[in-house]
Amino acid sequence: MATAPAISKEQAEAIYSRGLEGIIAGETNICSVEQGGLFYRGYEIHDLAQHATFEEVAFLLLEGHKPSAAELTRFKHEVVAERPLPPFVRAFIESSGGWLASGRAVPMDVLRSAVSLLGHTDPDAQDNSPAANLRKSKRLLAKIPTIIGHMQNVIDGRSIIGAELGGDPSLSHAANLLYLMTGHKPDAEATKVIDVSLTLYAEHDFNASTFTSRVIAGTLSDMHGAVAGGVAALKGPLHGGANEAAMEMLKEIREFVDAGKGSVNDFMQNAFATKRKLMGFGHRVYKNGDHRAPILGKLGRAVAQKKGKDFLRWFDIGDEVEKIMLRDKKIHPNVDFPCGMTYYTLGIPVPQYTPIFVAARVTGWCAHIMEQHANNRIIRPLSKYTGEPLRKWGT
Ligand SMILES: CC(C)(COP(=O)(O)OP(=O)(O)OC[C@H]1O[C@@H](n2cnc3c(N)ncnc32)[C@H](O)[C@@H]1OP(=O)(O)O)[C@@H](O)C(=O)NCCC(=O)NCCS
Repeated sequence: MATAPAISKEQAEAIYSRGLEGIIAGETNICSVEQGGLFYRGYEIHDLAQHATFEEVAFLLLEGHKPSAAELTRFKHEVVAERPLPPFVRAFIESSGGWLASGRAVPMDVLRSAVSLLGHTDPDAQDNSPAANLRKSKRLLAKIPTIIGHMQNVIDGRSIIGAELGGDPSLSHAANLLYLMTGHKPDAEATKVIDVSLTLYAEHDFNASTFTSRVIAGTLSDMHGAVAGGVAALKGPLHGGANEAAMEMLKEIREFVDAGKGSVNDFMQNAFATKRKLMGFGHRVYKNGDHRAPILGKLGRAVAQKKGKDFLRWFDIGDEVEKIMLRDKKIHPNVDFPCGMTYYTLGIPVPQYTPIFVAARVTGWCAHIMEQHANNRIIRPLSKYTGEPLRKWGT
């Protein structure tokens, strides 16, 4: 028997909001994004960035509580064991060099396809039970850095590093990611900066990519499909792609200034006059500043300070851009702004910034997919029809 809709058409029209701004679209106990603070399962982001490793944060998000020492050891072993890629996924990455070199595909595209292919070989692919979903989450968490590393090796034309073991099992998640990409074991500071950036990027409630993953999971589709959808949504420059776009914009500003074409302020005023969006600024929820941005900015600046003047200049230009944005537009930087400069200072190639965001956010996506499957209701909003009125096709 059909039941009456939960809200009437008139009520729905009254609460309509473009881009779902200000609309609560579901419940979650994973994360709370507020102007006053960012919390993962009740733990505040500064506390986590300072005291937790990314592995601990991943456990918190996926298994639901702060791990004991024994639980953390077990979790790390499980994840390290899952790092290698199935040979056919590795072969796919090796075959992607031409697409990447031609520019027709970018690393986010290859990563999205590789995530999808991982589903074909996952023994739990079609099983949406909580236990199977948790196993798949750990495999995705483990394998995404391996995909990124193998891809960078292909781009750089070197043989694949750590193919058999998915890197070096003695290294942490963050250190192994850098090792897989370069073949060099990073120092403690670089490892710490990447580790903290992964923690900051791990989760952010109903952001566009997580919402995408939940919509897909809400049809009772599978985890790999929902994560592949998340990757596609994250790629856009209005979302995760902003960390790459922010760095490209900073390069443009520096070139503009160094070529004697004008000052940072001249560049900015021109951007304002042409209604150009400044990448790495603004946020749908944080209108008075993103809690994550100063944490990463401080770490990045400290690395730049050691590397020398040339690196420090990115942060000086960045500070000037921030001041002008705040003075003229009252818009604060989001985490992607310092991320661009920080990853650049660490020597990470720009097209890998958003894939590294994926390496972190996969924990949030998987936690949300599990939460959606555990208490599912299909996500199917209404639309406001603005098309033609009734007309006749036949004569
Ligand atoms: C993140 C973002 C999509 C949020 O969008 P939103 O909540 O819908 O806010 P709006 O796009 O409606 O912006 C409100 C106003 O601020 C302006 N604005 C917002 N972000 C801006 C930016 N980065 N540069 C210049 N102007 C910006 C808009 O043009 C708009 O001005 P208007 O009212 O005169 O038209 C938006 O700030 C943006 O595009 N930022 C750049 C991309 C980015 O850094 N994304 C990463 C987010 S973590």
